[in-house]
Amino acid sequence: MEITERVALVTGANRGIGLEVCRQLAARGIRVALTARNEDKGRPAAKALAEQGLPVTFFPLDVTREESMVQTVEAVTRELGRLDILVNNAAVALDMKQPGLELGMDTVRTTLETNVHGPLRLIQLCVPVMRQQGYGRIVNVSSGLGSFSRLAAGKLAYRISKASLNAMTCVFADELKDTNILVNAVTPGWVRTHLGGIRAERSVEEGSEGIVWLATIPDDGPRGKFFKDRDEFPW
Ligand SMILES: NC(=O)c1ccc[n+]([C@@H]2O[C@H](COP(=O)([O-])OP(=O)(O)OC[C@H]3O[C@@H](n4cnc5c(N)ncnc54)[C@H](OP(=O)(O)O)[C@@H]3O)[C@@H](O)[C@H]2O)c1
Repeated sequence: MEITERVALVTGANRGIGLEVCRQLAARGIRVALTARNEDKGRPAAKALAEQGLPVTFFPLDVTREESMVQTVEAVTRELGRLDILVNNAAVALDMKQPGLELGMDTVRTTLETNVHGPLRLIQLCVPVMRQQGYGRIVNVSSGLGSFSRLAAGKLAYRISKASLNAMTCVFADELKDTNILVNAVTPGWVRTHLGGIRAERSVEEGSEGIVWLATIPDDGPRGKFFKDRDEFPW
């Protein structure tokens, strides 16, 4: 396996899709910063991949904490030497069964802090490093539940968080249109994880493939688009 120069930071990677994205990126020789808010879960996850010979290192990162985001972007850049790929994967889904009209504001706040403010701030922190390198790939892991054309009753906080993530994808992609930093969003589909549940139709391997593709697209690849697998998905 050839180790490339590329370094990827993946959020919420101690389990589920984030963990599988780390495995697939590392299997391509990309050096991966596997991040998680809980060190006791993140460190063993990174160790298990490293023991398979994959170039994976653990860094603590809570995407709701400013200090944690600043410190981790700085630590990854310093210790791994660069930062080429950001996968905004961490998210919570706290209102899958409640009507929006009955939703508590604490649930709304936590959902938006995790699923919107965290990715937004991380993009702001990573872009200066990517600009300096003249290379960047930013993948926002969104959801079909945030697709504006398909909005329906329920899951209000989660839906608006992913619709906001999609909006942010368009804004940042346009602000970066004259650079080699490509920002895109992707839905993994309905995947068997803690969030998706055991009845979901796709494996983590299947759900992660489109994310890894966007994380590694060439310089003339898409920007400011929403995908499922390699096909465009309606906003
Ligand atoms: N599974 C699906 O069917 C599906 C469908 C559409 C979109 N998605 C999206 O795919 C992504 C991955 O989801 P998943 O299915 O793999 O879910 P998951 O198994 O529940 O994983 C979510 C990850 O996010 C982490 N996380 C939550 N809050 C965090 C915070 N404040 N800081 C850092 N990490 C935090 C969790 O860490 P802890 O272990 O510490 O809680 C966990 O590692 C999410 O963006 C989700 O919205 C999933």
